[in-house]
Amino acid sequence: MDSIEIQGGVALKGKVRIAGAKNACLTLMPSALLTDQPLTLTNAPRLSDITTMTRLLTSLGAEVQLLKKGRVIAISAHNVKDVEAHYDIVRKMRASFLVLGPLLARKGRARVSLPGGCAIGARAVDLHLAGLKRLGAEIELENGYVEARCNSKGLVGNRIRFPLRSVGATENLIMAATRARGETVIENPAREPEIVDLVHCLRAMGGEISGEGTGRIHIQGNASLGGATHSVIEDRIEVGTFILAAAITGGSIELERGTSRHVGALVKELQAAGVGIESTDTGLGVSSGRERLKPLSVSTAPYPGFPTDLQAQLMAALAIADGRSEITETIFENRFMHVSELRRMGARIELNGRTARIFGVEQLKGAPVMATDLRASVALVLAGLAAKGKSVVSRVYHLDRGYENIERKLRACGARIRRVSA
Ligand code: EPZ
Repeated sequence: MDSIEIQGGVALKGKVRIAGAKNACLTLMPSALLTDQPLTLTNAPRLSDITTMTRLLTSLGAEVQLLKKGRVIAISAHNVKDVEAHYDIVRKMRASFLVLGPLLARKGRARVSLPGGCAIGARAVDLHLAGLKRLGAEIELENGYVEARCNSKGLVGNRIRFPLRSVGATENLIMAATRARGETVIENPAREPEIVDLVHCLRAMGGEISGEGTGRIHIQGNASLGGATHSVIEDRIEVGTFILAAAITGGSIELERGTSRHVGALVKELQAAGVGIESTDTGLGVSSGRERLKPLSVSTAPYPGFPTDLQAQLMAALAIADGRSEITETIFENRFMHVSELRRMGARIELNGRTARIFGVEQLKGAPVMATDLRASVALVLAGLAAKGKSVVSRVYHLDRGYENIERKLRACGARIRRVSA
């Protein structure tokens, strides 16, 4: 099991290139199941989650080629033989559940393992299933699997209203509805940029969809969809992570192909805390002086609110802010695992239910710490970059799920960081 060693205390200076968005790619790839024509994705990130999705689609009978060192993913699902997504894949990656809607739409049935919980929460799928039932699917749960099938009429468009905004449920329903007969209206969908990117791709495939990114999405179902070539949007969570890497080390980083357009909530908060962030002709320039960040009070929220996927990284930065900050996590019930590890580095954090109170300290101290989930692991890397002395972050396989060569990108900005293979 690899770990990452960091000698902290260096103000980062340099350039990093932002990769394509993991969470866009993980819904774009299963959308290839909706058509028997080839779908080509460019600007794809090279991550272990993409490898897992590749394995899943291949197990269903699709041909998936990773070209140009994984930057281009060519998928051809002309002969989808199987409709079962097995537990051993789904349990590793919840996004596997996004094959349910496309399989149901294309083959009229699907058997997908329930994703089960994960480190950050129970991760229910009731909204996915309720929405598919509204399109006429018959759903049964047995032996930990969702057994879904359509009657002879296939999926039929309908009005769906989500009681809460779910990224995955919105994606599954949009994909299923593009092949349903008639019109589907989705009320209160999630508005994340990754969903807007999915709709752009489906439209290129012939999908008739409008309203993405708003409170109501209209989908006119088509009997068939064509192929397309689509470039994956930049990863806004990687953008936010590197902005916070500059902020926590008092450095300045140029984010190539980064934009502030999808991280407005973070930019607003950090500018108020004293971080300079502005667009440049190649992306985004971030600079943070040596003075300590001002404290903040932030609640996570569905897009365009402050993203839960940047909550742990922000907490690491606020651990050395000049005063008391507060972060409330409203999306997931257990997304504070990084707190105990940050405390080992000298952070002063009190938890009260879903609210963390962070009392900024002058400096964190390097320590051996353990990653528990993807975003917690990168928060520990950020803390290690700022801490005095050596930190060792173990179980970095969590990190490899969502960040491409992060230690190489940070080293290019002067960080004293290296991967140690066990
Ligand atoms: C997506 O997960 C992202 N993953 C997550 O990123 C992200 O944290 C999350 O959206 C929220 O923004 C991918 O896109 C692959 P949700 P998803 O459905 O779709 C509850 C990362 O680090 N809910 O929007 O699973 C759920 O329990 C990952 O990249 C139900 O109750 O999230 C949660 O509390 C982590 N019933 C809330 O909604 C349902 O049927 C939001 O979940 C579905 C969800």
